[in-house]
Amino acid sequence: MLEAVAKLASEYNLPCQVSLEEFMACAVGGCAGCVVEVKTEQGPMMKRVCVDGPVFNAEQVF
Ligand code: FES
Repeated sequence: MLEAVAKLASEYNLPCQVSLEEFMACAVGGCAGCVVEVKTEQGPMMKRVCVDGPVFNAEQVF
C-alpha cells in the first residue's frame, strides 16, 4: 500500500513520506536486523528502520 501511495504522489508531483515497518530484534540500532535499502545522492545505502527511520522520503525507498 505504501508503494502505491508513493507512486500516486509521484504522479501528482507531491512530496511523500512513508513510515516503514520491519522485523526488529534489538530496536536500538545494534543488530542491523531491520535494514532497508535507501537511495541517496552517494548511491544506495542500507539504513536501519529502528534508528534511522521509521519515516523515510518515499522517493528514497521505492
Ligand atoms: S532492530 Fe536491531 S538494528 Fe534495528
